[in-house]
Amino acid sequence: MKENARSSAPVAARKFPHMINSVSLRAWLPAPLLVAALCSTGHGLTPSALRCEYLTDPLGIQEEAPRLSWIVASEERGQAQSGYEVLAASSPEQLAQDRGDLWASGKVASADSAQVAFAGGKLASRQACVWKVRVWDRSGQPGPWSAAAHFEMGLVKPEDWQAHWIETSIQNTNGKPEKHPVPLLRAGFNVAGKPVTRARLYATALGLMSFEVNGHRVSRNVLAPEWTDYRKRSRCQVYDVGALLRSGSNVIGAQLANGWYSGHIGNGHFRYWGKQPALLAQLEVTYADGSTDRLVTDGSWRWAPGPIASTDFMLGENYDARLETPAWSNTGFDDHAWQPVRLRDELARPIDAQTTESVRVTGELPAKSVSEPSHDRWVFDLGQNMVGVVRLRVTAPVGTTVTIRHAEMLNPDGAMYVANLRGAPSIDTYICKGGGPEIWQPAFTFHGFRYVELSGLPAKPGLDAVTGVVIGSDIQRAGTFTCSDERIDRLQSNIWWGQRGNYLSVPTDCPQRDERLGWMGDAQVFVRTATGNADVAAFFTKWLVDVDDAQSANGAFTDVSPRAGSGEGTPAWADAGVICPWTVYRAYGDRRLLERHYPNMVRWIEWCRTHSNGLIRAKDRGGDYGDWLAQGANTPKEAIGTAYFAYSTALVAKAAAVLGKSDDAAKYDRLFEEIKTAFNAHYVKPDGRIEGNTQCVYLMALKFGLVDGKLKDFAVQHLVADIAARGYHLSTGFVGVSYLLPVLSANNQDEAAFKLLMQDTFPSWLFSVKNGATTIWERWDGWTPEHGFQSPTMNSFNHYSLGSCGEWLYASLAGLDQAPESAGWRRIVIHPRIGGGLTRASYRLDTIRGPAASAWSVAADGVHVDCTIPVGSTAMVVLPAAGPQSVTESGRALENRTDIKLLTPVEGKTAVSVESGSYRFQCGR
Ligand code: BGC
Repeated sequence: MKENARSSAPVAARKFPHMINSVSLRAWLPAPLLVAALCSTGHGLTPSALRCEYLTDPLGIQEEAPRLSWIVASEERGQAQSGYEVLAASSPEQLAQDRGDLWASGKVASADSAQVAFAGGKLASRQACVWKVRVWDRSGQPGPWSAAAHFEMGLVKPEDWQAHWIETSIQNTNGKPEKHPVPLLRAGFNVAGKPVTRARLYATALGLMSFEVNGHRVSRNVLAPEWTDYRKRSRCQVYDVGALLRSGSNVIGAQLANGWYSGHIGNGHFRYWGKQPALLAQLEVTYADGSTDRLVTDGSWRWAPGPIASTDFMLGENYDARLETPAWSNTGFDDHAWQPVRLRDELARPIDAQTTESVRVTGELPAKSVSEPSHDRWVFDLGQNMVGVVRLRVTAPVGTTVTIRHAEMLNPDGAMYVANLRGAPSIDTYICKGGGPEIWQPAFTFHGFRYVELSGLPAKPGLDAVTGVVIGSDIQRAGTFTCSDERIDRLQSNIWWGQRGNYLSVPTDCPQRDERLGWMGDAQVFVRTATGNADVAAFFTKWLVDVDDAQSANGAFTDVSPRAGSGEGTPAWADAGVICPWTVYRAYGDRRLLERHYPNMVRWIEWCRTHSNGLIRAKDRGGDYGDWLAQGANTPKEAIGTAYFAYSTALVAKAAAVLGKSDDAAKYDRLFEEIKTAFNAHYVKPDGRIEGNTQCVYLMALKFGLVDGKLKDFAVQHLVADIAARGYHLSTGFVGVSYLLPVLSANNQDEAAFKLLMQDTFPSWLFSVKNGATTIWERWDGWTPEHGFQSPTMNSFNHYSLGSCGEWLYASLAGLDQAPESAGWRRIVIHPRIGGGLTRASYRLDTIRGPAASAWSVAADGVHVDCTIPVGSTAMVVLPAAGPQSVTESGRALENRTDIKLLTPVEGKTAVSVESGSYRFQCGR
């Protein structure tokens, strides 16, 4: 079924059909013909991977001017799009006849292939739009039309909603409120015996919802809808249910659970937003004759308790298969014993479009081994710390209760280490109905685990009793990194697993203990790495609204977003409200996103100004977490606050310049200089020592541009001296770690960076890898041979923050980065760093403009550097060669080349500039 998100086709095929074609062509075309087939000359360029608001064929768009994007790929060097034409029609038939009744852009002279705003006038609610695009190449030759893509407007106006919020009375049972069954809700409706052209289910919940129509699930989405600040808004999902309908009687069924709204969230919060969940749904059937039938949630719906005896994110889910009601969501089922639902008087809140990939099952992990550390307790190892649920397969007599426990680690005796789950027992139970095999997976909870313990089974289970079902926001993988050292590859894998599990509707800190919140500090230190792993444009488009919703009226950003009882104004945490929009703008060239968040960014700076003493953040530092979980170093918190105040101010000045607000740009540039002066006056000594003398304080000063000239050189020296004095070990926590390797490389200290990267004694990244980590640990000393596990009061093994070194692996080690002033990968820098005893590294990123890549390898004849630049982008390539005479490209000297221009050397290395295409440099010894 189609829904308001991406299709299930393989990522590469969806995003870059061109490239898939190239691969299959390669198999049978002789090389010269292949080149001719791939070159655009004579045929023009064909756009592919058409998307609207970052999503493929989305339903339920609510933007006034939805933005379109496409990819133009070509293997021809120096190729570029010089213009485009978009045709948007209300039907495929119109579009096939090249009639753009909604929008015919005409030829637009532009290199833009993303963020192209629909300019065909106001789109009404429910308007379907089929569109295609063609582009002109650099020589002005038009290419063929792309394949058609589709988007559809949602319910744009509040009055489009005819539905009422409904609830059941089940959650009001006195006694143990958290242990109540998940209700089944149902309603019948009729579909006329005439052709149906469209059937959409628009739905949202305060809590979690899932739907069935005539006995079939309507969507692959889970844990829907998205988590928001429910006081401010909820998010609507839209499902195409056309294929499930039949003429005559139909039934819609729903389940409704507590989730983030009324279950446990964070540490100790229960029913934070409301006491019990509620549902709002509207099913619209449109016929070929233009008429419409509508079914809405109202008092006619009926409900009864279902087989899920209770469910909660922290506690787990309990299911009694004996209580299943066959065919409850189908016709022919007698619901007269069910009770009527109640209408709920809910506060009016915007019901916004989904705008991001939904949460879905994104993978499966079969169990690798099973052991029995104590009698009748079977412990399965999935080989990977993951986020999601277990799919259980069991054959047992009716009434058997199987208990499923989850753990990230094992105790030395092989039993489950669950102490670090704190107030999140994470126990699922399944009561068998008999006559198995029975297959079950929880519907409304998730856990963080690698190990699974089953107990209560009548006999030894097979390995297939447990499958890990991986759940997360269905963001698409966009970056791949690999190198010659498998430990670094494991580190990269750990970084990605941390992201894929913890990006679950919002960027969470961890998935296993009673926390799982949108911690802002974690999000900001990792965001740059995140954009290097996956396409997170839509994910952040949604979450940054949560960030603004959380912001206090006085301008303070919070510690967690959605705001859930935490503090505000904390340096480096609250600053996510500036750093994240800026980083996302740079990654995707998304000016509109920057524009929308700009006022909130400014309010934060002004809050900092009024909560400082002479521009020093001497007070009101909220949670004041400092360089959280630093190892053997104590960076003064006031200096962190002041440094971040300066940094965020500088970013706001840059944002103002991008948005054409020159007065603001000047104002915040000036403020930055003033904070910098105050920082120097308070913390920087004449010998360049900065108060605290920690790696973190030097890293901030260098990264944020707070020291100049000699003081800058001294700061670099002090930083490197501290690293060396610790035997090439880091001392940074969440804050400092994200700047550590990038700052070293930016200051000609690659050698120190490599020593830290390759370090495998405590504390270091490879220390955890050496000790079997499959995700990034929350703390450097989560487990050590000397002390075993750290205190279970705070010891997560799946926290991505310390994995923010990914950014350096991609941008510096492999060497693919954007130029400092670039946004949306228009200007690229390829600058590989060769070192650490590595013999090769490569990184490829599907940018908003198409694939970009950098790969290097050390061979007997020197170093090879291969790179790919997207159509229309340009790159500076910095090669590991002292002079151009020792470099060839595709076997030809650099002299007298028109496609490669020599630039002034960078750091004593040969630098050239190239346009789009793929290049093979060989740098001789
Ligand atoms: C969370 C962190 C968060 C921190 C604030 C912790 O409990 O797990 O990741 O940033 O609190 O210091």
